[in-house]
This record gives sequence, structure tokens and C-alpha cells, in this order.
Amino acid sequence: MKKTGQPVRSEHLLAESDGDREVWTARRRRASLPTGAPGPDETARRRPTLLVQDLDVVLGGRRVVSSVSLELGPATTVAITGPSGSGKTTLLHALAGLQAADAGHVRALGHDLAELDVEDLSALRLAHYGFVFQSADLVPELSIRENVALPLELAGARRSEVRSRVDALLDELDLQECARRRPDEVSGGQAQRAAVARAVVARPAIVLADEPTGALDTANRDVVLDLLLDQVATCGALLVLVTHDAEVAARCEHQVAMLDGRATPLVGAAHA
Ligand SMILES: Nc1ncnc2c1ncn2[C@@H]1O[C@H](COP(=O)(O)OP(=O)(O)OP(=O)(O)O)[C@@H](O)[C@H]1O
Ligand SMILES: [Mg+2]
Repeated sequence: MKKTGQPVRSEHLLAESDGDREVWTARRRRASLPTGAPGPDETARRRPTLLVQDLDVVLGGRRVVSSVSLELGPATTVAITGPSGSGKTTLLHALAGLQAADAGHVRALGHDLAELDVEDLSALRLAHYGFVFQSADLVPELSIRENVALPLELAGARRSEVRSRVDALLDELDLQECARRRPDEVSGGQAQRAAVARAVVARPAIVLADEPTGALDTANRDVVLDLLLDQVATCGALLVLVTHDAEVAARCEHQVAMLDGRATPLVGAAHA
């Protein structure tokens, strides 16, 4: 299996290892975007959004994700739970191709992630994924507003569309007051809400969120969860979120529990 390289940090969701937005944008223009968003035809509708088969990930000589298989359809919500160190973040990274598989396969919207080169993998992520990192991982040089707008701008959205969509999210998540500040000038909860806004701003088909409510009070937790669930309801997205919060997990349609790298079978039939 072809490796996709080192584990990739947040900025690689938007820009590859050089972190240079202009270079990345130029690359994106050159690269032909892999297609595969759920289309109107019946075949596309029936295809699982994410298909994970016998996935292993080895880190530091230890199998931290072990024989995980999942079939997840569109318009589905899945909570991944489990103790610290059980492999939740590593699995989520593997679902986005941010962490290479050592065995097994991850297919997203029909694409085997291991068969995509770095540029196509980046293009697939930009077009179809939203990712909330466990540590928010906003781009430090950009304001909160610019961070939220970034996926739409990289996708070439019109300026008016960017402005209205970003404003709506900043309003909904109570971020207008800090929109012009940089990530190191806002609270942990504000940064986390901005990371959630960035993940959904371009209405991706796949939203992966690593403890998206971990730094939030109950009221903000519910606002963020509503926003993520709304993405599923209105766009038919697949939402996979990692959480230690039983109330958050209970609001998802399906649950997967991880222990020592192994995942329980999905509770419920996510892809009926
Ligand atoms: N780069 C690395 N090299 C070696 N081991 C690693 C590396 N990254 C993570 N691990 C180990 O892999 C295991 C799984 O880590 P992971 O971050 O996926 O756990 P987690 O379930 O997300 O935990 P938490 O709930 O604390 O976030 C842990 O034992 C961790 O120490
Ligand atoms: Mg984690």
C-alpha cells in the first residue's frame, strides 16, 4: 500500500506541507479534482460515503488502530467514544487520509485514499471534507473570520457568498465580537467554535470532528452540536464525531466504541 506520508497537521487540510496558500491554490487549479460527491444517480446514492475495511494504523511500532471496518452512508451521524489513547483521533485522521493506513483500506466517496497522490488527496479533502481537529488548529496568521472563510475562498466561491455564509456562521456561533482577532487572542471555546465553523462553511459531504465540544459550556456545546447535525439534515452529510460526552454521543444516530485500537460494530444500521 502506498504511503501518503507523515501524519498531516491541520494546515495540510487546506495546504500541503509547504503551508503556502498561493502555491497550494495554483496546484489545485492544475490538479483535476477527484469527483465522487453524492450525485443524482442511484449508484451514487447507494454508495457508502466512507468504507473502512480491516484498517490498521501502526504508530511507534504499536498497532493503535486494529482491524477496524465501518460502512457509513450519507445523512448519517456517528459518535466514536472510548478511553484516552484508544485510537479515536488516529482513526479519524485515517478516515481523511491525514494518517496513512498500514493495512486495509479507506474509501471515501468511491475513492481508495491510498491510491490518490498527495495533490488529489488534498483536492478531495478540500472539496468534500470538513475536519475539526482536537486542538482546533486554526491558521495562526489569519483572523477568526479569515480562518472560517478559508475553505470557501480556496474553493473559489464568490465574494458575496463567502461574506454571507461566514457572517451567518459567526452570528450563529456568537463569534462576531472576536472575528477580527487572531487565534491566539481568543478563548479556547471561541477557537473551537471557529474550527467547527471552518469545517462546515463549504457544506462538505463528510464532516469529521474530534471532540468538537470538548472546550465548551453546555449552552455552546448544544449550539455547536445543532450546527453539526444541521449539516447532516440539510446537506445529507456524513458526520463522524469523537466525544467523551455521553449526551453528545446520545444525540448521534449511531455509536462506535473504541478500546485498544479496536472498534465495536456500529450500533444500528448506518448504511441500510
Ligand atoms: N505519533 C505517534 N507516535 C507514537 N504513538 C502515537 C503517536 N500518536 C499517537 N500515538 C499513540 O497512539 C495511541 C492512540 O492515540 P490517539 O491520539 O488516537 O488516542 P485517542 O483515543 O484520540 O485519545 P484521547 O481521547 O486522549 O484524545 C495512543 O497510545 C498514543 O499515545
Ligand atoms: Mg484524541
